Amino acid sequence: MPRQLREVVFVDGVRTPFGKAKGQYAETRADDLVIKCIRDLIRRNPQLPPERIDEVAIAATTQIGDQGLTIGRTAALLAGLPQSVPGYAIDRMCAGAMTAVTTTAAGIAFGSYDVVVAGGVEHMGRHPMGEGVDPNPRIMSERIVDPEALSMGNTAENLHDRYPTITKERADAYAVRSQQRTAAAYAAGIIQPDLVPVAVRTAEEGWGLATTDEPPRPETSLESLAGLKTPFRPHGRVTAGNAAGINDGATACLLADEETARELGLPVKMRLVSFSFAGVEPEVMGAGPIPATEKALAQAGLTIDDIGAFEINEAFAVQVLSLLEHYGIADDDPRVNPYGGAIAMGHPLASSGVRLMNHLAHRFAEAPDVRYGITTMCVGIGMGGTVVWENPHYTGEVA
Ligand SMILES: CC(C)(COP(=O)(O)OP(=O)(O)OC[C@H]1O[C@@H](n2cnc3c(N)ncnc32)[C@H](O)[C@@H]1OP(=O)(O)O)[C@@H](O)C(=O)NCCC(=O)NCCS
Repeated sequence: MPRQLREVVFVDGVRTPFGKAKGQYAETRADDLVIKCIRDLIRRNPQLPPERIDEVAIAATTQIGDQGLTIGRTAALLAGLPQSVPGYAIDRMCAGAMTAVTTTAAGIAFGSYDVVVAGGVEHMGRHPMGEGVDPNPRIMSERIVDPEALSMGNTAENLHDRYPTITKERADAYAVRSQQRTAAAYAAGIIQPDLVPVAVRTAEEGWGLATTDEPPRPETSLESLAGLKTPFRPHGRVTAGNAAGINDGATACLLADEETARELGLPVKMRLVSFSFAGVEPEVMGAGPIPATEKALAQAGLTIDDIGAFEINEAFAVQVLSLLEHYGIADDDPRVNPYGGAIAMGHPLASSGVRLMNHLAHRFAEAPDVRYGITTMCVGIGMGGTVVWENPHYTGEVA
């Protein structure tokens, strides 16, 4: 049977405001965060008949309790999607939502789906990193993975060793810029349109509404970061100030076959060009985006010079800087994370991939002179993922 690949487009993406662990979502279930996102996608896109959704893929790193029970299926039912809409759960740790997007996108290109929901959640307050894991003893005894590499902070210190020119001062300066750019993006009203308000409650204060990210610290300065403890190594370089924190939040997006999007009158915010995942030594997992980006660019027939917009997940400042150093891009390049990133906004692990995509979609709408952009992130146990996107608003002219 002759088969034609189909174009995959990013239609729309939303997320909950991100919280600090034990913060605004301390008494909110993880699956309720996902449900809010799915419902909001349907509300924002009334031209999409819910029964046209062919799959719901939701990622979570810790798939137990309120993040378990095949969360893509249960969240879809609880969000009110018809019973005919199937769903499943995905895990690639930090790149969970990114993998939900790429996996379902491949299904769209193949012709299995017309429209999907893909996203992720992590309630790190309810599910601390590493909860319930039982690593095979061979991983340790045969040194397949250095046991210390199971702590992401240790791998960030190792990355500083690997790139001795990336000093703590550079990492701190990067972190200050992330905070400043996030504050500026909030002030310009760029972040808010994709946030879904979430009803929350605490025993002390009763009901409230989460409408903004809790983690940002816009007052952050080089001086305030200089004295912070380095929890992963004595006299190390990684601190709470130049790392993403421990956060709660969820994201979801709609992807579609481009012709179906046109038929239904759905917006086309980005077009998928290529995607790739790659493995590196688990001890320096933050270097993962480098080979992933090389592979994704090669598949697309592009070079790094073709990329006009970068959304790089800021698990740690050093990990962003290693990618920039590899490509000879300046630490403060305005093409990179112009609205700040996870150091300021937070990184609820498996949810973050779609947060990057929301930002890139916004950047594309603002910059018709930018044709290609990437979303990229590092992943625990030594991986990276990169997605190359094309700007459907591209005209070649500056806005
Ligand atoms: C780095 C880490 C261990 C810090 O955890 P923590 O100690 O609970 O963090 P806190 O928020 O309490 O911050 C520690 C201190 O730094 C201070 N601090 C944090 N960010 C700051 C900032 N931007 N400016 C000034 N001070 C800051 C806090 O006020 C706190 O000070 P205190 O000790 O006087 O109260 C934790 O955030 C972490 O593990 N992050 C990485 C998460 C991760 O691995 N994600 C996966 C990536 S692959």
